[in-house]
Amino acid sequence: MILTAPSILSANFLELGREIKDTEEAGADYFHIDVMDGSFVPNITIGYFIVEQVKKAATLPLDVHLMIERPDRYVKNFIDAGADILTIHYEADRHLNSTVNLIKSLGAKAGVSINPSTPVSALEDIVCDADLILVMSVNPGFGGQRFIPHSLEKIAALKAMLTQKGLTSVKIEVDGGVTVDNVAHVANAGAGMVVMGSAFYNSKNYKETIKAVREKTI
Ligand code: DX5
Ligand code: ZN
Repeated sequence: MILTAPSILSANFLELGREIKDTEEAGADYFHIDVMDGSFVPNITIGYFIVEQVKKAATLPLDVHLMIERPDRYVKNFIDAGADILTIHYEADRHLNSTVNLIKSLGAKAGVSINPSTPVSALEDIVCDADLILVMSVNPGFGGQRFIPHSLEKIAALKAMLTQKGLTSVKIEVDGGVTVDNVAHVANAGAGMVVMGSAFYNSKNYKETIKAVREKTI
């Protein structure tokens, strides 16, 4: 059974408290929070002030995805605000090893994400230090995009790399365009956790959506 992390980027922000409650009641496993800076990606979204507010209302752990340049500058702010998992991008940080260790030293789980055009082989020397690898299955920046099919091969290659290195506790998370219809392929390729933005928050019944995801990934 795959773990689900609904992305609040697609939630109704005027009703965020209720959305948080409904998401938890539906049986989700994490809240995914997309932080964008208008530079690493062409969109500006949520800062640590909102993360802090979500933390007050949520009981589920917060999975915070930083799509920002030089994430090392803000790691402490996001962990102080309540991030339980903090994921940074391979493409945005020149000293990945140092930033991953900084995240862990501040008490959060450290994730590393790769864009669709970054090969899995780029992770060779960081997987042993990361708690989680997030494979982007769309180009980051916006919710509601279509899943890039080649991502399935990347997930499988990453799974093989982790197995070969004996790093079976490192989680594989997949983000972008995941739906009830394609989640079985994503799980079969080796993912243990999926982000769902539009497919979750645009669905009529959140509980049914989580149930359907679980049934498809037993
Ligand atoms: C995209 C974000 C995703 C996004 C997912 O840049 O990182 O987390 O919110 O939304 P969907 O599931 O709609 O693709
Ligand atoms: Zn994300």
